[in-house]
Amino acid sequence: MNKKITVIPGDGIGKEVVEGALQVLNVVAKKFSHQFEYEFALAGGAALDAAGIPLPEATLTSARSSDAVLLGAVGGPKWDANPQHLKPERALLGLRKELGLYANIRPAKIYSALVDASSLKKEVVEGVDIIVVRELTGGLYFGKPSGFEQRNGEEVGFNTMLYSESEVRRIARSAFEIARKRSKKVCSVDKANVLETSQLWRKVVIESAKEFPDVELSHMYVDNCSMQLIRNPKQFDVIVTENLFGDILSDEAAMLTGSIGMLASASLGGSVAMYEPVHGSAPDIAGQNKANPIATIASVAMMLKYSFGLSAESDAIENAIEKVLSAGFRTGDIHTEGMTLLGTKEMTAKIIESI
Ligand code: IPM
Ligand code: MG
Repeated sequence: MNKKITVIPGDGIGKEVVEGALQVLNVVAKKFSHQFEYEFALAGGAALDAAGIPLPEATLTSARSSDAVLLGAVGGPKWDANPQHLKPERALLGLRKELGLYANIRPAKIYSALVDASSLKKEVVEGVDIIVVRELTGGLYFGKPSGFEQRNGEEVGFNTMLYSESEVRRIARSAFEIARKRSKKVCSVDKANVLETSQLWRKVVIESAKEFPDVELSHMYVDNCSMQLIRNPKQFDVIVTENLFGDILSDEAAMLTGSIGMLASASLGGSVAMYEPVHGSAPDIAGQNKANPIATIASVAMMLKYSFGLSAESDAIENAIEKVLSAGFRTGDIHTEGMTLLGTKEMTAKIIESI
């Protein structure tokens, strides 16, 4: 198989973890006789420094003409004070919107070797296997109008939470399709006791569910869901929710597993999908060989499966990660007593050895 991948390392630890993931991909390519060609592109702070804008047209052109996009992370204190349109995060939002990536798939699965890394009790988190399906191109992140203006002699900031029926229907369908391949349970999370957008959301999700009579649908308010995720996370299988709720709940779900440094994500819906770790650019540990590369390596495994249909290759990576963790190797974020502490490079090498 011959595939072109647009690689956007981005900022902070993004560069290090992407480097590790590409090394893993190269080993998989060799072992299974595939050819992966990488086209490097700039986004976020790196693009601001080089080109003065967070998302250069060249990056979008590359992404649109490739078979998949791998992104590290964007952002850092250097650009935090930039005006809104010149913040590194705009690159991420621009890529999602321009590539039509409305379905963000964020699995939060506990690796059995890591149950002790969670801040929750072992019996609460053991066996947790959740997929958060986050709507990614609508809601408060993109609703118009938004901005700042003067009202009654003072400055106000405002955003619009808006969802159309078609936007809700397509993400609901994505969630039902995913649930069909798992335990056939979807929990739709909203705030329908207060918000009109949520009332529409709930109505459309219920309508869409009729196309999937084999899937069991439940509803939960977002505040309750954030509590239930801590109280009894095993009650969840697929969670579907709007953009901002999904942003928050997916971090919470990720942390159940002990570290956000473990969690991969796929953004689907357009003609080319994007894969990225759930974590950010972690400027405090950037360039120190401390970052956990597993989330990005697992993201590449998702790419192989979802974009290229290469399940055996994807499983080879997943199994290698399991093996290395079971053998007691850890990066700093998941390190516990008695385990062997490794840096980014050493962890990558261990995973490669196990493929
Ligand atoms: C995420 C991040 C982004 C988001 C930021 C960096 C724009 O938190 O992917 O979850 O809010 O979507
Ligand atoms: Mg987030």
